[in-house]
Amino acid sequence: MITISNITKSFGSLQVLKGIDLQVRKGEVVSIVGPSGAGKTTLLQIMGTLDRPAGGRIEIDGTDVSQLSTDRLSDFRNRHLGFVFQFHQLLPEFSALENVMIPAYIAGSSHAQAKKRALELLDFMGLKDRANHKPNELSGGEKQRVAVARALVNNPAVILADEPSGSLDTRNKAELHQLFFDLRDRFGQTFVIVTHDEGLAALTDRTIHLKDGLITHTTTRQDKEEI
Ligand SMILES: Nc1ncnc2c1ncn2[C@@H]1O[C@H](COP(=O)(O)OP(=O)(O)OP(=O)(O)O)[C@@H](O)[C@H]1O
Ligand SMILES: [Mg+2]
Repeated sequence: MITISNITKSFGSLQVLKGIDLQVRKGEVVSIVGPSGAGKTTLLQIMGTLDRPAGGRIEIDGTDVSQLSTDRLSDFRNRHLGFVFQFHQLLPEFSALENVMIPAYIAGSSHAQAKKRALELLDFMGLKDRANHKPNELSGGEKQRVAVARALVNNPAVILADEPSGSLDTRNKAELHQLFFDLRDRFGQTFVIVTHDEGLAALTDRTIHLKDGLITHTTTRQDKEEI
């Protein structure tokens, strides 16, 4: 699904990623943890083709994305990747339904197709009766679930999430985390999640520990269950 090999990245003289290798299989939920400044967001942005590495190779869904031009890359991103950020980043002037439909439109879906898919997803998230609400009429937890629906609308190979529950209270956090695993169990959805939440990391299949731009170690769910 995703194979990244020897990824490096520097900002000026600061080497932020020092050679990262990682493989993610379909249907896996992988977490990336580590101290602030470790390079987690930088790695996720590079995996998501939002930023280019200095060196190394990234293959997503069978495509070597390093070879794509900027135009082809945004099209690829729209069709193959979904993003969820700490703050929902919904467009304030559009309803929940419209926010979920937008990436489908961009990918060339008809209005009817986009609406059908968006309503199915909102229904799955328990948000059908909130479809016509604008973001400022939704709770924090609801906004994050709309953001997850938007990330899913084009059936992405993988959803990349950067501290998706970082701005939620305990209850909404637990609900959002459960949603990720429900989506994996029901649709085989693959996730890579950067998180500071130890509870969430403990639930994932594999946790990548990043420090100073290097993977220090990886723990699998089996390791976690043995502890
Ligand atoms: N655009 C940029 N220009 C210069 N330096 C940057 C840029 N983006 C990130 N950095 C630096 O790269 C390092 C890694 O940043 P990154 O955002 O990947 O960390 P992180 O692990 O996500 O941290 P946090 O847990 O605080 O979000 C930091 O030292 C940061 O200051
Ligand atoms: Mg970060």
